[in-house]
Amino acid sequence: MLLLALCCGWSAKAGEYPCEWLSLGVTEDPSSIQRVVWRTSVDWPVAVAQIAPQTGSPDLVSRARCGTVLSREYDDYGIRKIYHEATFDGLKPATEYLYRIGDGGKCWSEWFRFRTAEAGEARFSMIYMADVQEGMLDQYPRVVERASAICPEAALWLFTGDLTNDARDDQYTAFFRAHGRVLAERAVAAVPDNHEYHRNEAGRRDSLATTWGHLFGRPCNRTPVELRALGNDCFDYQGCRFILLNSRQLEARDSVYTASVLRWTEECLRENPNRWTIVAMHQPFYPIAEGRSSSLMRRLFQPLFERWSVDLVLSGHDHVYSRITTPDGRKRTTPVYITSNAGSQTYAPAYHSYTDRIGSDLQLFQVLDIGPERLLFSAYDAGGRLYDRIRIEAKRGGKRLFVEPVAVEEAIELPSGRRRKYTDEQWLDLEQRRDGYWNLKNQQLKKCEK
Ligand SMILES: [Fe+2]
Ligand SMILES: [Fe+2]
Repeated sequence: MLLLALCCGWSAKAGEYPCEWLSLGVTEDPSSIQRVVWRTSVDWPVAVAQIAPQTGSPDLVSRARCGTVLSREYDDYGIRKIYHEATFDGLKPATEYLYRIGDGGKCWSEWFRFRTAEAGEARFSMIYMADVQEGMLDQYPRVVERASAICPEAALWLFTGDLTNDARDDQYTAFFRAHGRVLAERAVAAVPDNHEYHRNEAGRRDSLATTWGHLFGRPCNRTPVELRALGNDCFDYQGCRFILLNSRQLEARDSVYTASVLRWTEECLRENPNRWTIVAMHQPFYPIAEGRSSSLMRRLFQPLFERWSVDLVLSGHDHVYSRITTPDGRKRTTPVYITSNAGSQTYAPAYHSYTDRIGSDLQLFQVLDIGPERLLFSAYDAGGRLYDRIRIEAKRGGKRLFVEPVAVEEAIELPSGRRRKYTDEQWLDLEQRRDGYWNLKNQQLKKCEK
């Protein structure tokens, strides 16, 4: 009766519901279930969510029904808030809906829209962002604006860790503000890593921020509870399987956790009916930035990824763009390892020869266009220029990788903002490595032209 009364409280003050951190989640079946997550102050304990089919008519209320809402109070950083999670089920595939949230009586949000997924394999696009982290309210919003303009109908926004610098409450508020209404209308998937961990007294980041557990709506059907609690996830979207791995937790060298993640990852890969497989993990397999090493990750996961034909591994952490392909005789093949950076903090590249293409001192976003016949991966810089593009074609049960030409020259210059971090000698060494990398690339280019 209470729910009915709340649903019927139509006389409302639109746009006056004081919600924070509103986002669409990823669900077990995106063609029939949609989840919405937000938070309020403790003064707003009752929450209601309504859904209506998209229509040109302004009479949305009479067509609306309520979803199920779960509300829980948490105390993060000494700040008490109520986190609300609404679930709309029984939806039609490939259908646009509108939803709003509110207190059920006086105050409501505006109406937001979303589209359910197709029931089976079908073409879709998505955006991948790495290391938003810094420059959230000054340099980063232009990246969001460009990404939204180039790929306005992205079904999914994927964040590969380091969403903020210290996982603080005000930083998450800035993260949501930087995206405007994007996160309220596009499914959000994110994997946590080192900057989602709080520091202990010794200064080491050793505990995943409790906020992470109620920040986004996440699928709950394929991941054991103990792994899900640490940010690992697996879900399918229109013919593509996504596996999200918390690589930071592996650094704790907990053999039980490591064995459990490896076992679960292999299960997700082995029992995968989808044509495409994308892994998102923050720390890259191959170090890209100067002074970094990631051999543990490579040793543990690379054999699995190659054995089960993972197509893309999307990362961040090194604040440099890089594309690395898997050698196959004289050809290059999948998995393709991408590292990128969306925020304003950039690191010096290490100029390793195994890198096919790097992008130094850049803010970027990536658009993936995924369909039954091919996967097109495009990296754009913050100015909207196409910086890198690969195409993977699926034909007769096999895959072929093509690197498409782009007009923009490889960005290899050292980021001048990092100069203060190095001695003169170290900087000179980096400049020499940069020149060596450039010479190597020119030699390779000449060989190809012969
Ligand atoms: Fe990181
Ligand atoms: Fe980072």
